[in-house]
Amino acid sequence: VDEGHGVKGVSELNLKTLPELFIQPVERRLDMKKVLPDELIPVIDMSNSDDPEVIKMVCDAAEKWGFFQIINHGVPLSIIEDVKYATHKFFNLSTNEKKKYLSQNSPTKNVRFLTSFNPEVDKAYEWKDHLSCFYVSDKEALEFWPSVCKHQVLEYMKTCDSVIKTLLKVLITGLGIPKLDETNEPFLMGSKRINLNYYPICPNPELSIGASGHSDVSTLTILLQDHTGGLYVRKHDSDSWVHVPPVKESLTINIGDALQIMSNGRYKSVEHKVIANGQENRISVPIFVNPRPSDVIGPLPEVIGQGEKALYKNVLYSDYVKHFFRKSVNGKDTVDFAK
Ligand code: SIN
Ligand code: FE2
Repeated sequence: VDEGHGVKGVSELNLKTLPELFIQPVERRLDMKKVLPDELIPVIDMSNSDDPEVIKMVCDAAEKWGFFQIINHGVPLSIIEDVKYATHKFFNLSTNEKKKYLSQNSPTKNVRFLTSFNPEVDKAYEWKDHLSCFYVSDKEALEFWPSVCKHQVLEYMKTCDSVIKTLLKVLITGLGIPKLDETNEPFLMGSKRINLNYYPICPNPELSIGASGHSDVSTLTILLQDHTGGLYVRKHDSDSWVHVPPVKESLTINIGDALQIMSNGRYKSVEHKVIANGQENRISVPIFVNPRPSDVIGPLPEVIGQGEKALYKNVLYSDYVKHFFRKSVNGKDTVDFAK
């Protein structure tokens, strides 16, 4: 698995049963009895993002669910289809080609191909391979990102910029901050990472997990998922889970820890997980919109200025991320670092 074959290589052995390494302790799987079949996270039409009703829907969803889907977001379907196709192309490369992006071989620390979340410390591996690319510049991306997908991935990422700006503008409006400008833009969207995720067909999906329960450390995450389904979101402050069904041409948005902290807990970064699938290979492509590593983040002065008590302290964002990657993910516990 760690030699570049990935979980995809294991999946292609057509084993009858799941190898031990992937069997998750019960508490890390998804208990289907805890899934609420009739609840849905909001699907929001973004055609008129200045409309006060739309602003309210977005901010309410960020407060209540921390997750929502958007349609009519302005990212052309062709660009979405291209990045999905390119993602399959990357994972369909030979092991020898993919191996070049393993952390020990990759010529840059900004590009890495790996299995599981944190293979060095995960006791049981997640049933997932991924390529993770931290964006520095076009030049760097064109030099180091895999040729089979770099143009499509870059184009998709760039096209999402206006969606990101629109959403952040709307969300800060809800916090009483009039606009995105040069003072707040850098720490709201100062750096970006894009992942290509591949969840191959799994022999015993019920014993494994595609992605263990975690919250994102981003300000916002823009997630493109394919038609397969399998992403579940924990209903805020409960032990119930809700499926995020694939909606044609939609993008899924979730609030990350950084924005929960900046909004002083108003917007929720909620736990989510992905189950493995016995029938189909699934892909997803999240863009993590982050502060810059060198930013100190904390509750925004505009929020605290209204007489609220600060629920979080200021932390250096790179320390926060380091804290997240120090061990296997475990639900939403990273945010305690800022308490
Ligand atoms: C993740 O949040 O880690 C992945 C989400 C997905 O694959 O749908
Ligand atoms: Fe996530």
